[in-house]
Amino acid sequence: MSFETFKLDLDADGILLATFDVPGRSMNTITGGVARDIVALTEKIKTDDAIKGVIIASGKPTGFCAGADLGELGSGGLSGAAPAKPKTEQEKLQAAFDGAFTLNKTLRALETCGKPIACALEGLALGGGLEIALACHYRAAADQPKMQLGLPESKVGLLPGAGGTQRLPRLIGAQNALMMILQGESKNAQEAKALGFVHEVVEPGKTIDACRAWLKTNPKAVQPWDQKGFKIPGGGPYSPGGGFPFMGGNALVSKQTNQNYPAQKYIMSCLFEGLQVPFDAAIRIESRYFVKTQQTPQAKGMIRTLFLSMQELSKGANRPAGQPPYEVKKVAVLGAGLMGAGIAYVQAKSGVETVLIDVSQESAEKGKAYSQRLVEKDVSRGKLTKEKGDALLALITPTTDYSQIAGVDLVVEAVFENPALKAEVTKKAEAHLREDAVFGSNTSTLPITGLAEASVRPENFIGVHFFSPVERMGLVEIIMGKKTTEATLAKAIDYVLKIRKTPIVVNDSRGFYTSRCFGTYTTEGIEMLSEGVAPAIIENVGRMAGMPMGPLEVSDSVGLDTALKVGKQMAEAMGADYSKDSRGRLMQWIVEEKGRVGRKAGKGFYDYDEKNKPQRIWPELSEQIEIKVRECPPAMKQELTKRFLIRQCIEVARCFEEGVITDARDADVGSILAWGFAPYTGGCVSYMDLFFGGLDGFVKEADRLAQQYGERFKPPQLLRDMAAKGETFYARFGAQTKKAA
Ligand code: NAI
Repeated sequence: MSFETFKLDLDADGILLATFDVPGRSMNTITGGVARDIVALTEKIKTDDAIKGVIIASGKPTGFCAGADLGELGSGGLSGAAPAKPKTEQEKLQAAFDGAFTLNKTLRALETCGKPIACALEGLALGGGLEIALACHYRAAADQPKMQLGLPESKVGLLPGAGGTQRLPRLIGAQNALMMILQGESKNAQEAKALGFVHEVVEPGKTIDACRAWLKTNPKAVQPWDQKGFKIPGGGPYSPGGGFPFMGGNALVSKQTNQNYPAQKYIMSCLFEGLQVPFDAAIRIESRYFVKTQQTPQAKGMIRTLFLSMQELSKGANRPAGQPPYEVKKVAVLGAGLMGAGIAYVQAKSGVETVLIDVSQESAEKGKAYSQRLVEKDVSRGKLTKEKGDALLALITPTTDYSQIAGVDLVVEAVFENPALKAEVTKKAEAHLREDAVFGSNTSTLPITGLAEASVRPENFIGVHFFSPVERMGLVEIIMGKKTTEATLAKAIDYVLKIRKTPIVVNDSRGFYTSRCFGTYTTEGIEMLSEGVAPAIIENVGRMAGMPMGPLEVSDSVGLDTALKVGKQMAEAMGADYSKDSRGRLMQWIVEEKGRVGRKAGKGFYDYDEKNKPQRIWPELSEQIEIKVRECPPAMKQELTKRFLIRQCIEVARCFEEGVITDARDADVGSILAWGFAPYTGGCVSYMDLFFGGLDGFVKEADRLAQQYGERFKPPQLLRDMAAKGETFYARFGAQTKKAA
């Protein structure tokens, strides 16, 4: 019998070394082929009398196994069995269960085969990888900084489906297991040993020896839960202490997820129900919840956006074909303020030599001091050695001298948001800039095509829009001006990938893609306030809808004066009178009459304490505005949630119609990474595609809102056409469509 994904080597003592090594991949993942091999391998171990004991190890230097292949899982499961053609709903569910249960059942067969199985863990064992290890009777793990042992499925809206929710709590207790599984946290070898799910910690490269030594001494081929008198550490759900994690846990999960993440709820159920029954029944319970979770729109959206699309974009999926690679070694940053300082740091961290230019040497040094602080923090926490920290800082040269731009591969302009100043620094920089180098502007609002007019090489001019704080925000929005060439786009993408950020590509428009769509969330909140919805309801529903902050708090952070300015500009562009609409009147009153411009002034919709933390909603708000909605029963919460989310999605759909954005992956990833659009949806596009039973359902709901609350909810024609044809955004604007085009 030959195996495609395992290499077998039986020694004279009857110890079988099964080396897990999926061909053609740098890291092992569990594919259908792997699942098939594990079934066959288990059968061989059980039936081949020459095999006395087994070591499962990895042939990859990168680690043991990163878990299920989510691409395959997303497209129908990893049963490894030939696809059946179920007809009825019942048959479909049965087929889904059978598929999900295959690996679970096989790992159970492995641990009960009567022969001792040891697992050698190096690098990482995550998700299904750790689940294979947990089904072994002994685990040796390497003591190395890169070691990660965990069950991160909940991060993509799933739950561990190969026994993880049952074996881990039986080893380390429900409380510890819930902490790990609900948060998807991983542990290193020492932590895993202390918790009790690794038997031995050894030097890297010695795990196979440790397994062999265990097999040769006194191996036990029975799992703890199959031994007489087994007790769950900390007690089962109905024991006095064992019930506690569930009582407190349910409340905590509810608070943290606002019940938006079904996986978290089902994980609680898996443990609660599974820990009360024998192991064979427990894994059936797990597989049922796994199927239930897998079929939610949340899991589908999250897997696609947070895993697959993120991975594709982070490998440059939108890089124009045929452009040669561009090596970015040296970059000049103009403006060492908040953004410039952050950009300089992320560049230096990725080994890019950085010239940091400001109007005075003092300002430039101040910008570099930001990196100094971040480096010192990392060194003091042991995350970075002093030498590496010094090397990073040595890459940043603070200066006022524009002639140092000669020889850089790219410029990032991050001076004040002022078109005349930006034009001036563009000219000054280009006087020294190599002809083939790229000029990128980090403007947050000014159209790129307009800024490029100051450039002698508008074809090399592009928007590179970072988010604050730069070192924590993973996205860069790349904006194409009218004259920007594909060669420049390719170079800009290479730069963004070099500094380990995820690029999305959009076309020029006021507010580009991210600021434009995000702005609708805050304006909808202010709209609700002007209608008389109590501010506390608006803020709480915003957060409960899955947004990171309430819309009024966000408005305060952006600055109410800025919001007023943008509101006036938008109204003017549409030929409307801002002072006549209720939202406009509210904004003028709070900014112009009350002088409350937001967080920076310590007063806006909120009052702030001396540390600039929001203390309370400004009490006078409710005095000035006639509050009509003071209670929020579930139907009201649902309605306000829909207004928040659908309003943003309509703007996204308009961006597609206008060609501002052209790829569903960019739109979804951008919506979550840039402005924190409810991550459980998988992003704005996935929300439209998956949460209303098709775009038709979404359009109906948007039409209803338009009728009730105004034209801003009206679906654009593109959306109506797609709905009428039964299309989805991913079918029309997804990766496959792009490839075909
Ligand atoms: P900032 O006010 O903190 O920094 C601007 C810096 O530019 C100052 O240090 C100033 O001395 C310097 N500067 C002015 N004239 C200069 C010149 N002639 N040569 C060199 N440096 C000069 O501003 P911030 O927040 O860093 O914003 C910079 C740009 O980034 C703006 O276009 C802004 O719209 C954009 N942006 C800001 C974001 C934010 O959250 N603050 C987010 C994304 C983009």
